[in-house]
Amino acid sequence: MRTILAVAALLAALCTTALAVDGDVDAGAKVFKRCQACHVPDKAQNRVGPYLAGVFGRPVASLEDFSYSDAMRAKGAEGAVWDESNLAAYLAAPKTFLPGGKMAFAGLKKPEEITNVIAYLASLPAP
Ligand code: HEC
Repeated sequence: MRTILAVAALLAALCTTALAVDGDVDAGAKVFKRCQACHVPDKAQNRVGPYLAGVFGRPVASLEDFSYSDAMRAKGAEGAVWDESNLAAYLAAPKTFLPGGKMAFAGLKKPEEITNVIAYLASLPAP
């Protein structure tokens, strides 16, 4: 029984990982054009928003030189990390995921846009 549970847990973990990798990086790069006014993908340079190079797996609100909202800092203090489930929830509805957050973005409507942009974000190395 233990072994079956362990195998099930392992499969579940593999499936979650596959979700992000499953997305289309090139299609995600197109979606990212909507983020680019505020976010830099390839350098340690903040704009209106924090730079997103290396954001996948990064603890929430962890850049020292960016002035996050109190709501985002509180999320980070809880130990939240930008994994695919947090990214998917935030990008679908920023204000629902983070009431009081200061990202002025309505959210991505289509699930495949979310999956693809997450695959793109996961492909960005940390600067
Ligand atoms: C109008 C500007 C703007 C747009 C467009 C925008 N963002 Fe943001 N983003 C921000 C701001 C400002 C913050 C900081 C929010 C806070 O502190 O509450 C942020 C924060 C983030 C964070 C948290 C990073 C961290 O260091 O914790 C992620 C991830 C993110 N945005 C992804 C995206 C993606 C992906 C898109 C496009 C689909 C996007 N954003 C579009 C302004 C923007």
